[in-house]
Amino acid sequence: MQIRAAVLEEFGKPLVVQDVSLDGPGRGEALVRVHACGVCHTDLYTASGADPTGYAPCVLGHEGAGVVEAVGDGVTLLAPGDHVVTLFAPECGECVHCRDPRTNRCVAIRERQGEGFLPDGTTRLSRGGERLRHFMGTSTFAEATVMPEIALAKVSPEAPFAGAAVFACGLSTGIGAALNTARVQPGATVAVFGCGLVGLGCVIGARLAGAERIVAIDLSEGRLEHARRHGATDTLVGGPDTVAALRDQTGGFGFDFTFEATGNVAVMGQAVEAAREAWGLATMCGVAGKGELLEVLPRLLITGRRVTGSSFGGVLGRTQVPQLVERWLGGEIDVDDLLSHRMGLDDVNHAFELMERQDGIRTILEIS
Ligand SMILES: NC(=O)c1ccc[n+]([C@@H]2O[C@H](COP(=O)([O-])OP(=O)(O)OC[C@H]3O[C@@H](n4cnc5c(N)ncnc54)[C@H](O)[C@@H]3O)[C@@H](O)[C@H]2O)c1
Ligand SMILES: [Zn+2]
Ligand SMILES: [Zn+2]
Repeated sequence: MQIRAAVLEEFGKPLVVQDVSLDGPGRGEALVRVHACGVCHTDLYTASGADPTGYAPCVLGHEGAGVVEAVGDGVTLLAPGDHVVTLFAPECGECVHCRDPRTNRCVAIRERQGEGFLPDGTTRLSRGGERLRHFMGTSTFAEATVMPEIALAKVSPEAPFAGAAVFACGLSTGIGAALNTARVQPGATVAVFGCGLVGLGCVIGARLAGAERIVAIDLSEGRLEHARRHGATDTLVGGPDTVAALRDQTGGFGFDFTFEATGNVAVMGQAVEAAREAWGLATMCGVAGKGELLEVLPRLLITGRRVTGSSFGGVLGRTQVPQLVERWLGGEIDVDDLLSHRMGLDDVNHAFELMERQDGIRTILEIS
């Protein structure tokens, strides 16, 4: 079939929205009509050329929500008409990591996905005879996509697509970092560095976990207002004195749980330092720049602080994304507040500009 899609032709250049060909689903795959897609930093990061593992040409986009239109042979998990959220982190349920409750790092299709191919080593996208590669196994800046069934989460048909889309990456990452990775305990003290979609997700997750104090830190007053709406009990404008201020608020000890959601390695260091002596856990969500290092004084670790990181919030996509969507529909999570701009696929480069200006929390492309 012919579809409209946003193609990354060349790093550092605007995406080109154009007609491309999409083949039908192969064995174990589903064809999904994409209705909405969030625009995430990782799309911009790859488009800019900063990502050393990036490739072009390819169809970008990974925060998608839509409806299954057709399934290939052997598909058992999905049927046409199912509403789905796309998963850049699949859940096969069988690999060495899927069988272990400590992680969501499914390895079933990782290598091929990283190279821009479907699990059988081919692509479903092409243009005038030239194969076009997939991005993150998703390629959802498009009217439709073909994906492995293990990388699609079946969600409630009651969920509006624009809101469902943010569960495909940013929001689930933050909420999951608090609930799955750190396992924030009721009554805990929490500090969240960075209040974009990921950091606000950490605030929401900490609230859902029953944290007693949630301090949100950002450079932008507007974003701190968002944080208050989602459950932050205190807010702080970030800067060089942030750690001292946080320690002062806790009798010099620091916070039970800290989260970093900025991608800035200096802020990651602050999150480690602000974690409580004796048992504080600092969880890194941000993606650092190429070659950047996180420096940690070993003394901070000897005295009991722990450091970890979270990919997609440790969320098991097929199992837990539907559960998070239910919590949203049940009124526990305010997703509308996070959807700042809505526009069509043709405006994808404008959505990137808004992101670079930090205008709004999330822009949603409403595609079909
Ligand atoms: N781990 C994962 O699986 C995963 C998934 C999605 C995104 N990410 C990464 O998470 C990070 C956050 O993503 P986002 O979409 O929320 O980004 P964002 O840019 O919308 O938000 C980052 C926030 O950090 C704030 N900030 C910057 N410097 C600060 C400082 N010194 N002190 C306090 N706050 C500061 C900014 O004002 C901004 O509000 C990015 O690095 C992104 O690449 C990781
Ligand atoms: Zn697996
Ligand atoms: Zn993302």
